[in-house]
Amino acid sequence: MERLRCVVVGAGPSPAPEEDLEYRSASTNAEAEALVVGWEADAVVVDLSSAGSLDTVADLATAHPEVPVVVVAPLDAMPEAVRHGACGLVRPEAARAGLGRAVRDAVARHRRVREALQRAVLRPLVRLRELIPSDGNPEGVLRRLAEVARAGLGADRAAAVALDPRAPDLAVALAEGRSAAVRERFWTLVPQRLADAEPPPAQGGPVLTATLGVADQTLGALTVARALGRRGFDPVQQELLDVLGILGALPLLQVELLRELRRSNQNLIDALAYACELHEASLRGHSERLASYAVAIGRRLGFGDGALENLRVAGMLHDVGKIGISDRILLKPGPLTPEEYEAVKRHAAMGAEILSAAGFPEDVVRWVLHHHERWDGRGYPASLRGEDIPLGARVLAVADAYEVMTTGRVYRGPLLPGQALEELERERGRQFDPQAVDAFRDALAGGEVRRDSLDA
Ligand SMILES: [Fe+2]
Repeated sequence: MERLRCVVVGAGPSPAPEEDLEYRSASTNAEAEALVVGWEADAVVVDLSSAGSLDTVADLATAHPEVPVVVVAPLDAMPEAVRHGACGLVRPEAARAGLGRAVRDAVARHRRVREALQRAVLRPLVRLRELIPSDGNPEGVLRRLAEVARAGLGADRAAAVALDPRAPDLAVALAEGRSAAVRERFWTLVPQRLADAEPPPAQGGPVLTATLGVADQTLGALTVARALGRRGFDPVQQELLDVLGILGALPLLQVELLRELRRSNQNLIDALAYACELHEASLRGHSERLASYAVAIGRRLGFGDGALENLRVAGMLHDVGKIGISDRILLKPGPLTPEEYEAVKRHAAMGAEILSAAGFPEDVVRWVLHHHERWDGRGYPASLRGEDIPLGARVLAVADAYEVMTTGRVYRGPLLPGQALEELERERGRQFDPQAVDAFRDALAGGEVRRDSLDA
């Protein structure tokens, strides 16, 4: 059996000793508070007929809402004691026999209420984990936030509204209904047309609104409404909605940060790719087309989203090492001398070094390093053979060859797509990984290669 600890303020009654109750006396409020904290008391008894006063009751109930206060008071003083925060009451003449029971009842009731309140508050907060954006899309976050607020506050409708920082659009997510059959809707509208949004059918009923944002970053608002005639929201629910508004803003800010990070990464990639293509007018768009071919092959080979993104980046930057090679060699119309060819071959390793120093993912660096290896082992820089060559690098080799053949170079005109494909087939199993060639052929046949890439 749990042994309850009880602080008695003032002289107090002399309760009958009981096994599951332990009493300690405090002569002042300060002493009582010290015992509540230091002894981890479960309840406090204030005897109004001895040293205790209603102020003592109010002070302790306010300072320690986690501990119930049981008041020993005559019948006529009981309503006032309750108003001051008493959780349990016992008459002085019944205190000796009945105090133990009053304390046990007050502690049990107090715990039940506290647990119910904690559950009501915590359940919606726990559900906030659903808000973590997996797809970098704020719509999913807003939809779930509206639903969490609706369910967590027992509302009939909830709306999460956020301003898109990049456009004059408001994103609106609405959840409505009270049972499992909750309808969710999502739309965007420009703020000037906000008045055109449908008026909520729960108009006139209780409404709560909280800011969706943190510190000085206000992203929007979170509103919940109950139908006309239903009970209003209580102060704890207002606080809960405020907390949802703060915590719900975090994943939205995360989405925005991710977008910004991607944007600045993309700017760096574009700048580097542009720098590579500056050498030669005929190279314009080469990296971008190559990257789209590589992604089409990678998709056929079952690359996941992250690997496809790495493939796109590696495709954009595969020849970044050419920045370090003289134009005299790169733009030479005739055949290269053996020394010049050796200099050109260094672009693969130089590119990998540049990308590694710039902090690009390891796969991107490895694939760029090996994009001139051949399936038969006669490539460079490491003369790797077959599956020893990283798969991404084998994909880049096929995409690179096709792009070069179909756009031509200063020393050779372009081939038609069919002719270039025939050439890839001829080198299937010699220069190129057979499965990468097959995947590209299938992707072309399936129309999975962007037309603008082919037409460029
Ligand atoms: Fe290259």
